Amino acid sequence: MKNSVYDCVILPLSKIHNRAGNITIVEGQKNIPFDVRRVYYLYDIPGGENRGGHAHKELHQFIVAASGSFNVLLDDGQNKKTFTLNRPDYGLMVVPGIWRELFEFSSGAICLVLASHKYDKDDYMRDYDQFIIFRDNINST
Ligand code: TYD
Repeated sequence: MKNSVYDCVILPLSKIHNRAGNITIVEGQKNIPFDVRRVYYLYDIPGGENRGGHAHKELHQFIVAASGSFNVLLDDGQNKKTFTLNRPDYGLMVVPGIWRELFEFSSGAICLVLASHKYDKDDYMRDYDQFIIFRDNINST
């Protein structure tokens, strides 16, 4: 699993538009490349706060700015890439093994996350130095 930040891409979603508003649909294995086993969302994020600050060993995630905007910094231990999410009709695919930081949330932002697995605290790496050791092991094999 030598995932890099270059495997994390923005995926456009379709939008069904009419005068009463828009609807966007996300189906696992159709619009995103995994089955969705969990959905969660971040909201009421105070100005200036950061979220994330961890990596996952197995989890795939698809992150959508359902409302407002925020930035996502991705880091594979060698390369970093920052994405701005600000539209509900696209999202960011984050593959396993990538450190992420979410920051610069706009007022009222909602960060919707579709995840490939149920919550598992053992899937988290929350220590950046340990993450770098984990990545160095991967990159040297
Ligand atoms: P965490 O993933 O650290 O949040 P973020 O990356 O947005 O900063 O989760 C925050 C807290 O919520 C932590 O105590 C774990 C808990 N949590 C669950 O119990 N289940 C879940 O599905 C998620 C995503 C978090």
